[in-house]
Amino acid sequence: MSSKGAGHKAELRQALRVGVIGAGVMGSNHARVLAGLPDVHLVGVVDPLPAHRTRVTELANCPTFETLDQLAAEGVDAVTIAAPTHLHHELALACIARKVHLMVEKPIASTVDEGREIVSAAHRAGVTLMIGHVERFNPAVAAIKKAIAGEDILSIAITRVGPFPPRMSNVGVVIDLAVHDIDLIRWFTESDIIEVQPQLSSAVAEREDIALLQFRTASGVLAHINTNWLTPFKARNVTVATRGKYIMGDLLTRQVTECFGFKPDGSYSMRHLPVGHDEPLRAELIAFLHAVRSGTAPAVTGDEGVASLAIATQCLETSSHRPAEAAAAKRRAVG
Ligand SMILES: NC(=O)c1ccc[n+]([C@@H]2O[C@H](COP(=O)([O-])OP(=O)(O)OC[C@H]3O[C@@H](n4cnc5c(N)ncnc54)[C@H](O)[C@@H]3O)[C@@H](O)[C@H]2O)c1
Repeated sequence: MSSKGAGHKAELRQALRVGVIGAGVMGSNHARVLAGLPDVHLVGVVDPLPAHRTRVTELANCPTFETLDQLAAEGVDAVTIAAPTHLHHELALACIARKVHLMVEKPIASTVDEGREIVSAAHRAGVTLMIGHVERFNPAVAAIKKAIAGEDILSIAITRVGPFPPRMSNVGVVIDLAVHDIDLIRWFTESDIIEVQPQLSSAVAEREDIALLQFRTASGVLAHINTNWLTPFKARNVTVATRGKYIMGDLLTRQVTECFGFKPDGSYSMRHLPVGHDEPLRAELIAFLHAVRSGTAPAVTGDEGVASLAIATQCLETSSHRPAEAAAAKRRAVG
């Protein structure tokens, strides 16, 4: 907890004092959702950019601060970190040193070593650490997870494509997008990924902007991720084949359909599954705050965040594609 913040469960029974670090796209949404949650006092949002502070004040009607020190001086029990990924390590360690519980946006950090340091520092300090793999809280994903419970999963295919983001960060599609689906594959199968076969390409960007990734889990499931920033529209689809069912989910329209009752003559039945309406980010933040209040394990642990980042990193390291060399070759060809 912070200098003025909570620490003991008795103190956490009142409204939790929560802060947000980073007032960009995700941080503004965190602030908007937290401002509307019961039993939460949104202490404020930290961002070094005045324009971003102004925008978030208008959106969430809360105080803003230029530095983490200023937020901490107000007293916070918990924070969410939605600053650029390369700052997660430094900011997370600074919060943990103040005994503040934290939810770090995905991916946990830029490197596996940094992620591990965050996990062990949180463990030593006894603070709750959750990672923002928000897709787990998408009601369509929850419906798929429910539909495959107890089934013998054979294969999973996930498509996550769309246009280039308006602001290019310093990571490519594997770390930015595929890490969501690596987490889903691990969560659906409740197993570790033990083999990776990546194919990457940089068609336009300096970093990889197309990735076709194949995996095998310890439980024997084959999985495939198709992701890129070169599709003119957004699409997020998941299909899961089990021995008894074939499930198709559209994570954007939230329609989930299952085929079942396979007969020797090739016929089968089909039905739409019930899907909830929750805003994923709201459900995720409620889960984080529940873990803080109850002292129970968070829905997405730091170890899980590190494991997904490790697989994404392995895809980059084992691919024969070298983005810098490919970009240089492209420049030579154009010149
Ligand atoms: N869960 C998801 O679906 C999802 C979606 C988008 C982004 N993200 C993650 O959220 C994080 C932020 O992404 P974004 O798209 O909101 O980026 P963004 O660039 O829109 O926002 C980052 C903000 O952090 C601020 N910032 C920079 N240094 C800071 C510091 N020292 N302290 C506090 N704030 C600081 C920037 O001024 C900016 O306002 C990334 O880690 C990204 O991977 C997650």
